[in-house]
Amino acid sequence: MNTKVNFCGIEFDNPVLTASGTYGFGLEYDQYYNISQLGGISVKGLTLKEREGNPTPRIAETYGGMLNSVGLQNPGVETFKSFYLPKLKAEKTCKVIANIAGSTVEDYAEMARSLRDTAVDMLEVNISCPNVKNGGMAFGTDPKMVETITKAVKSEAAQPVVMKLSPNVTDITEMARAAESAGADGLSLINTLLGMKIDVRTRRPILANNMGGYSGPGVKPVAVRMVYQVAKAVKIPIIGMGGIMNGEDAVEFMLAGASLVMVGTANFTDPFAALKVKNGIIDYMRRYGVEDVNELIGAVIPN
Ligand SMILES: Cc1cc2nc3c(=O)[nH]c(=O)nc-3n(C[C@H](O)[C@H](O)[C@H](O)COP(=O)(O)O)c2cc1C
Repeated sequence: MNTKVNFCGIEFDNPVLTASGTYGFGLEYDQYYNISQLGGISVKGLTLKEREGNPTPRIAETYGGMLNSVGLQNPGVETFKSFYLPKLKAEKTCKVIANIAGSTVEDYAEMARSLRDTAVDMLEVNISCPNVKNGGMAFGTDPKMVETITKAVKSEAAQPVVMKLSPNVTDITEMARAAESAGADGLSLINTLLGMKIDVRTRRPILANNMGGYSGPGVKPVAVRMVYQVAKAVKIPIIGMGGIMNGEDAVEFMLAGASLVMVGTANFTDPFAALKVKNGIIDYMRRYGVEDVNELIGAVIPN
């Protein structure tokens, strides 16, 4: 049985990765299992300088998932390069994706430049964060900006560049095509859906930032639909995510057209979630006689 997937020229041992912002820098999960068993990890969104993120409360539970307005809290790219990355590369065999963000086009280019001569395997460009004032989602909802940022990162990057798309748009295929035409090597989707929750007793929003990003199983049908649409619209490969809780959820994304999948919110309710998703895919393959996991990619039979 083959579980290896070649994505943008990089061989992943299996198609299961963890989603940025839900798994720290991976090493935190070492106390539970060896993360080398995963295909890879996408680390917490990195910026040029350290960020404290937004005021609290910035996490709230909802039906079928959660809202967050963390706002890209991270130690900055230099600390990632000097502390986390060497440890990850020395101790782990799974692939390491650097998730990068910025407030200006130049920030994004500088992030790619600063990660050039490092052991990072791939860049995932977050143009879809709903929780920052400058950049973030504002970039990912305008096809011209998607193009500009893709070009800027591509011109500096040594690694394959995956653009992470926002679901907060009318037509996600427009953003996907803009990224592809500007030279993106791959796409990842979806980031969180802009959401809100209000405490009816106090009449105040639960999150200090008023609004936040909705993630978890409640978003899965929207995410699967977007992967399906994007897979039909572009030729570059896709990383699918949004509410994956088990192996069959992951298979759904692969059938819709994703080559790799990422597990996000599920990590918060079960630290073993990503490992279980991987084993769940293998169970599915055994049950349905699938010899090679690549056979599943885009294999949905539309009605
Ligand atoms: C607490 C939290 C923090 C996140 N931080 C980031 C981030 O830094 N960069 C990014 O691209 N996506 C971030 N995301 C989005 C996830 O990577 C993922 O796209 C989204 O949550 C959908 O997947 P899920 O439903 O499996 O969580 C974050 C999500 C959550 C819940």
